[in-house]
Amino acid sequence: MYTKLSAVYPGSFDPPTNGHLDIITRASKLFPKIIVSVTDNSVKKHMFSLQERVDLLKEASKDLPNVEVASFSGLLADYLEKIDTFVLIRGLRALSDFEYEFQMALMNRKLNKNIETIFLLPDQSNTFLSSSMVKEIAALGGKTKDFVPECVEKKLHDQR
Ligand code: PNS
Repeated sequence: MYTKLSAVYPGSFDPPTNGHLDIITRASKLFPKIIVSVTDNSVKKHMFSLQERVDLLKEASKDLPNVEVASFSGLLADYLEKIDTFVLIRGLRALSDFEYEFQMALMNRKLNKNIETIFLLPDQSNTFLSSSMVKEIAALGGKTKDFVPECVEKKLHDQR
């Protein structure tokens, strides 16, 4: 273990993908506790409810004993203060993610100077994956088996 601190991996996870699980797995090897924290992203239209996303993440990460799944509403900076945890994990897939992630990391640090964001890179095979694409493929009847954990694939299939 590299650090004694816990870390929060926040996101909308709608739905969780193999890319998210890749980041969760990597983070779980670096920190004694990872709190995957699900929220609604106000600029996105969600397919699954907050509770459904929490349940899917719990199922998908059940083999990782130091991973907890929680949810929050409101500002991430306030949530971090409330749970007294100030390390954030975010995944970076490509340069195109950087602008948004950079802005968010600096804004969070402006809101609370204790917040540090750590970026992890997924395996190359997961760099093209996004929840939005998975949703679109599923909605159009395409196969999502290779992109999402089994429980998510089942849920997407049930939605059809
Ligand atoms: O998985 P996403 O949708 O890219 O995650 C973005 C998320 C949910 C982490 C971000 O939108 C967020 O932190 N929302 C909570 C509200 C907030 O604090 N907004 C200001 C961020 S600087």
